[in-house]
Amino acid sequence: MAEIKCVGVVGAGQMGSGIAQLAATNGLDVWLMDADRDALSRATAAISSSVNRFEVGDDAMRRLRLTSNLQDLRSADIIVEAILESEDIKKKLFKDLDGIAKSSAILASNTSSISITRLASATQRPSQVIGMHFMNPPPIMKLVEIIRGADTSEETFIATKSLAERFGKITVCSQDYAGFIVNRILMPMINEAFHTLHRVATKEDIDSG
Ligand SMILES: NC(=O)c1ccc[n+]([C@@H]2O[C@H](COP(=O)([O-])OP(=O)(O)OC[C@H]3O[C@@H](n4cnc5c(N)ncnc54)[C@H](O)[C@@H]3O)[C@@H](O)[C@H]2O)c1
Repeated sequence: MAEIKCVGVVGAGQMGSGIAQLAATNGLDVWLMDADRDALSRATAAISSSVNRFEVGDDAMRRLRLTSNLQDLRSADIIVEAILESEDIKKKLFKDLDGIAKSSAILASNTSSISITRLASATQRPSQVIGMHFMNPPPIMKLVEIIRGADTSEETFIATKSLAERFGKITVCSQDYAGFIVNRILMPMINEAFHTLHRVATKEDIDSG
C-alpha cells in the first residue's frame, strides 16, 4: 500500500474539521470537502483559530485545501468520511468515492453506528474500506476505534492504525458490531442513568455517586 501523504476528508462539520486539522498539523496534505460552502467557511475559521495557538499553525493552514467538489479528492491516499449519520447517504457517497479515488486509496468512515461491511458493499474495493472512529473533539480526544469490516484487509488495517498513531492517538480494534466498543458500553449506561433519575435518585445524587 502506498505511503499516506494526502488525506481527503468528506464532511466539514464537528468531526470532519477536527480530523482535517489533525492531518494538517501532522504534516499531511489535506483536501476537506463539504457540500455546504458555509460549513467550509466555519471549518476554516475553527481550524485556523485552533492551530494558530501553536507554531505549526501557518504550515498546517498551507497544507489544508477546501473544496465543494468531490473530484478534488482523487489525489488522496485515504479518504475519511464524516458526513451525517445516514446509511443510505453514506452508501451513495462511498459508491461515488469508489469511482473517484485512486485504486490504492483507503475509504474510511467515522460512523458511530453504521455497519462498515454494509458501507463497503457499495464499493468495488471492500478490502480497502474500514472504520476510523474518532472521539469528539478529534484534535483533543486520544482514542480512535478502528473497525474491520468482513472483507477489510490486514494491509488496510495496518495503514489506518499507523495513520491514527501518527496523529498521536491510542487505537483499539473492534469487530463490526452495533456500537463498536465505546458506544456499545456508553449508550446502555446513559439509558440506565435516565431510569435511575426516574426511580432511584436525584440528578445531584447520581452525579456525585
Ligand atoms: N459529533 C460527535 O460527537 C461524533 C463523534 C464520533 C463520530 N461521529 C460521527 O461523525 C459523523 C459526522 O458527525 P458530525 O457531528 O461531525 O456532523 P456535522 O453535522 O457536524 O457535520 C456533517 C457535515 O457533513 C456535510 N454533509 C452532509 N452530507 C454530505 C454529502 N453527501 N457530501 C458532503 N458533505 C456532506 C454537512 O454539510 C455537514 O457540514 C457522523 O457519522 C457521526 O455519527 C460524531
